[in-house]
Amino acid sequence: MSKERNSDDIRREIERRRTFAIISHPDAGKTTLTEKLLLYGGAVREAGAVRAQKAARHATSDWLELEKQRGISVSSSVLHFEFNDHRVNILDTPGHRDFSEDTYRTLMAADSAVMLIDAARGVEPQTRKLCEVCKLRKIPIFTFVNKMDRHGRDPLDIMAEIEDVLGMDVVPVNWPVGAGSDFRGIYDRLDRRLVTFAGGDHGTHRVDENIVEGEPGSEAIREAMGPFADDVLDGLELLEGAGAELDPEAVARGSQTPMFFGSALTNFGVHPFLQRFLEMAPGPVPRTSNGNVIDPTDHPFSGFVFKIQANMDPDHRDRVAFVRICSGRFLKGEQTSHMRTGKPIRLTNSTLLMGKDRSEIDEAFAGDVVGLFDPGIFRIGDTLSNEKDMHYAGIPIFAPESYMRVEVAGVQKRKALEKGIEQLVQEGVVQLFSDPEGGSASWILGAMGPLQFDVMRHRLKTEYGVDLTLSVLPYTMARWPQEGFDPEDFRYSERIRVVRDRDDNWALLAQSPWDFDRVLERNEDLVLAETPDPSLFESAV
Ligand code: G4P
Repeated sequence: MSKERNSDDIRREIERRRTFAIISHPDAGKTTLTEKLLLYGGAVREAGAVRAQKAARHATSDWLELEKQRGISVSSSVLHFEFNDHRVNILDTPGHRDFSEDTYRTLMAADSAVMLIDAARGVEPQTRKLCEVCKLRKIPIFTFVNKMDRHGRDPLDIMAEIEDVLGMDVVPVNWPVGAGSDFRGIYDRLDRRLVTFAGGDHGTHRVDENIVEGEPGSEAIREAMGPFADDVLDGLELLEGAGAELDPEAVARGSQTPMFFGSALTNFGVHPFLQRFLEMAPGPVPRTSNGNVIDPTDHPFSGFVFKIQANMDPDHRDRVAFVRICSGRFLKGEQTSHMRTGKPIRLTNSTLLMGKDRSEIDEAFAGDVVGLFDPGIFRIGDTLSNEKDMHYAGIPIFAPESYMRVEVAGVQKRKALEKGIEQLVQEGVVQLFSDPEGGSASWILGAMGPLQFDVMRHRLKTEYGVDLTLSVLPYTMARWPQEGFDPEDFRYSERIRVVRDRDDNWALLAQSPWDFDRVLERNEDLVLAETPDPSLFESAV
């Protein structure tokens, strides 16, 4: 049973929550770092469990064909643990680029992001895109430079690259001592101390830390740094000289990123990072509903659906709506309202997700994510609230990069096909566009990549008994007219297709940025955006 709680209790619970996602390019070490955070958080006793769980999921899930054959993860979940009196929620996201839309939506539910960079590879394309979404939302981004146990690039180089490519100021919180097989510690610029690590068992257990307090030039620190002292001190001096100081406000807006160094594989630097990150990262941030700022601690329960996932586990053949709680306390069994339909719903069948495991929960707080059993009533972006007239801004549409036309000729189960497409589009499996001139060939599906279409095909077959036939379209991008668009008097080339999105907004599909440049030249008043409603990003915060 849930405890009686007064408003101070609830406030305390909310403020101690830290909800974030890790963004990175595949192979930078996200799974490894996640696992190590769980290890330090006491959620697993020995690193290796997450990978093992993933393997077990592969072995039993409905996604067998897709996930196992291709060695990718389609589904994602939420992980949580307690650390230093913080309740930590990691919003896990699938690693493959084709499912990045899922990651983008998940970022709408996070209060901050950890950007993982491979020390040898620097900023990679997927990191860049995910970082752009975080920047649009103006959430804080914390940088962890990983794989310091391998020979990588000069830390100053990585800093410069982040500043140039991602347009953020970088302020190192710590600085590495040694690199590659000689990587042995970090100097903490805020606490003015050196932390060295002792390895041994390849990071399955926590590493021992040795701490020496002192200014960088002090005898004790020099001695503890050994042969690396001159290099490290040069680096630190350069940073001091450049005046790279942390500015909490700039961090909060995402214009400055605190940077950390470490190795997720050997655990070096993971613990100092976790400690400092939890101190610096924000708790649940206010969000806007109908133009009003909703403070998480001043309102009763409210939240929004940011993700719907079906058949995560064959033992539970159902759909789960992931709800990010934005204010107040969630109480099992309580009645709330589903704002889009105006219908009351009771919060039964609420589960807390932990990787693949689910457990029934009685209560949760703003910042947490709960899974609600979804009998088919939820859509991505739906608001649930105990107060009247709450509508969180919703989840923006992200322009797909791959398009297919649905071939309906010869389809015998057209009704089932329509129903299936509608349902799966609501779940966000793919996006649906229609060509007003397309007649029977009017349905166009958009996705980030081919694997998303594979999931669509697979699910239509297994859940609706229909074979989906698709033909490839040459488009790779979409833009939404914001101003100066009149379909009757619009000058465009053959390379552009004018369609409507599922909310009936006009959208333009093109093959390259060049096509949009031409269209903009020919239509002087036209203003295009990368999403139908760019204000959704801002109002989510
Ligand atoms: P991802 O989720 O971002 O895709 O990356 P993941 O953690 O799966 O790591 C990708 C590869 O990088 C793995 O190697 C992993 O062991 C390695 N790795 C992660 N962090 C570090 C690190 O700090 N240092 C070094 N040297 N390697 C790291 P793999 O060979 O693909 O897999 P495995 O055989 O190790 O499981």
